[in-house]
Amino acid sequence: MRLSARDKALLDGADGDVNRQAMDALVQLGEAFDAEDMVDIGYAHVHAGMAMYLGDVELMEELAERGARMSVPASTNIANADMENWQATKAPESLVRLQKRAETAHLSMGTGGCFTCTPYWAGHWPTWNTHMASIESGVTIFSNSILGARSNRDGFFAVYAGMTGRYPRFGLHLDENRTPTHRVVVEAAPSGTADFTVLGYAIGAHVTNAVPLVTGLGRRPNLDELDALGVGMATSGGVAMFILPGVTPPYTDKDETLGDRLPSILVRERDLRAVYDDFCTGEENGFDIVHLGCPHASFEEMKHYAQLLDGKTVKSDVELWITTNRTVRQMARDSGLLKPIQASGAKVISDTCPISCHFARTCSPDPSLGVEPPKLRTIVVDSAKQARYIRDMIHCPTLLTTTEKAVETAVSGTFVPRW
Ligand code: F3S
Repeated sequence: MRLSARDKALLDGADGDVNRQAMDALVQLGEAFDAEDMVDIGYAHVHAGMAMYLGDVELMEELAERGARMSVPASTNIANADMENWQATKAPESLVRLQKRAETAHLSMGTGGCFTCTPYWAGHWPTWNTHMASIESGVTIFSNSILGARSNRDGFFAVYAGMTGRYPRFGLHLDENRTPTHRVVVEAAPSGTADFTVLGYAIGAHVTNAVPLVTGLGRRPNLDELDALGVGMATSGGVAMFILPGVTPPYTDKDETLGDRLPSILVRERDLRAVYDDFCTGEENGFDIVHLGCPHASFEEMKHYAQLLDGKTVKSDVELWITTNRTVRQMARDSGLLKPIQASGAKVISDTCPISCHFARTCSPDPSLGVEPPKLRTIVVDSAKQARYIRDMIHCPTLLTTTEKAVETAVSGTFVPRW
């Protein structure tokens, strides 16, 4: 791999041992994927340091103590506890104390410390052709497909990329990999974020690791629906970019014809229904929690929840969780949206989500954290991603429906299905 003089200096330890380690890891990554050289990145969305993973917070502390600093704008992915409002999720204080140590490490490294799967709603909005790195698959697909930035699905390497400002040029950093491989014809009328996660899930299951060109939607989805579409694809497949002509830079409406000679996939209403059915495995009257905000809710979604919950009361034996990031929660607080939401009995949770905090309580390997496995019967969700992760990671049955019907479910205590 061709390295710049600066890359070589970093490899030689000119900026200290911690940056040498970071560059060494990136060179190994590049060699594994036959990268010709490295690119400058403009943004990194990095690992938080998870209190539930043994030694993981300590790893971030060690990096910070050795002088690691972000050289580009950076944000942090989701963590295992809401560090402000942790009592709401019944997280043990010992877990939260450990999680807060990761926050301290991140603040000294210069990340925004926003602890979210939707840093774009917190102001991290990489623009067209910005090379970047991201640990979160939803951030990767949103950045590639909606913003036109360039990102692979990275793991811990995103931290090293953030430190050095460099990343090997392979995968979706190359023009030739940002062209469609499949044509998807949608013969359904999805509406709202739940439907779009389901549509994305159906597409991802077909194309697995590919770049689908999506046609037939008949309208421009709003930003929340676009976010949901990508998250769904990234969950059932390894999709890191989709192309929606007229939305995905630089593709215009005329580029629909690019798909004419590609393998074609038809997605009908019955395919969406099949995904909903697959994730309705729980007892319709035996649920504990209704969860909204996967991925973490935008300000627009918070407005929608406030309207749906205004003047309503969540049934006494049900919890309604709404997850969003800290920035959006503060915006919602400042604009009065939290009042009707919290007056209904719903909990607004940041920094984590049911997956991360229940998984922590189910699987924590460290007995000193005092983590008790939650006793959950069923979780009602409005996201195919959340449903899939609940099934696979915390082994709890789910009931998947739309946002509006999930709210009706929380208020009435009786599950209201999509159809
Ligand atoms: Fe975010 Fe948790 Fe969903 S990390 S995308 S809210 S499963």
